Amino acid sequence: MRRFWLGGNWKMHGNMAQAHALSTCARKLAQTELPVQVVIFPAFPYLQLAAQCLQGSKAMCGAQDLAYQPPGAFTGAVSGEMILDVGCQYVLIGHSERRHVFQESHELLTRKFARAVELGLRPVLCVGETLSQREAGQSEHVVHAQLAAVLDVFGPAALRGAVLAYEPVWAIGTGKVATPEQAQAIHAHLRSIVRNHDANLASSLPIVYGGSVKASNASSLFAQPDIDGALIGGSSLDTLEFTAIVEGAKDLAG
Ligand code: PGA
Repeated sequence: MRRFWLGGNWKMHGNMAQAHALSTCARKLAQTELPVQVVIFPAFPYLQLAAQCLQGSKAMCGAQDLAYQPPGAFTGAVSGEMILDVGCQYVLIGHSERRHVFQESHELLTRKFARAVELGLRPVLCVGETLSQREAGQSEHVVHAQLAAVLDVFGPAALRGAVLAYEPVWAIGTGKVATPEQAQAIHAHLRSIVRNHDANLASSLPIVYGGSVKASNASSLFAQPDIDGALIGGSSLDTLEFTAIVEGAKDLAG
């Protein structure tokens, strides 16, 4: 039986009413024995509401970012301790919008990753190349460097309990989805890098795809052997689309 991991990244969208509706939807989707893990990533103000809504269900909640510092005088920042305190289990690290819009460096992301692991938050490490990097034939090199920034510093143990998300920048929010073959090739490459460090970890680590995933393209992506689910942006804000994607994964898992 295959296992799938499906994350809904709400980004800077939503309000109280929508957060409640989307969390209720995630809760309903998690009422199954099938090995399909549903995780939602609301913006900070809605984390507690979402975590409370999911309490007692198998769905989980995560933050979209965290500070690498411990609690203290860091105005505007949110610590890992706070994220845990409101009932989250996961945190996104290195989403392309953090790398490219907020200019977060390998070094900063490595610190955030370390902080998450230290606190017992499960990191979802996002990697992916830009369009010009893909056109220059550098996709494998770019994702390798992004993964190595963590793997070479902390070793494979730090990836236990983590999720790796391949999110080609050119496919995020653009409606341009990677073909199943393009995504599979990068996923297989990522898994082989992890396998060089730890074969057991390589087979258990969820490597999920993100970038314009919709109900209409999800099952052909999930049919690939190294695609273990998805990190879903726009479609996670639409309960019908998100439900169809998760139900499709359940069919493949069952
Ligand atoms: P998208 O976003 O599904 O809207 O392309 C994916 C993501 O940013 O995680």
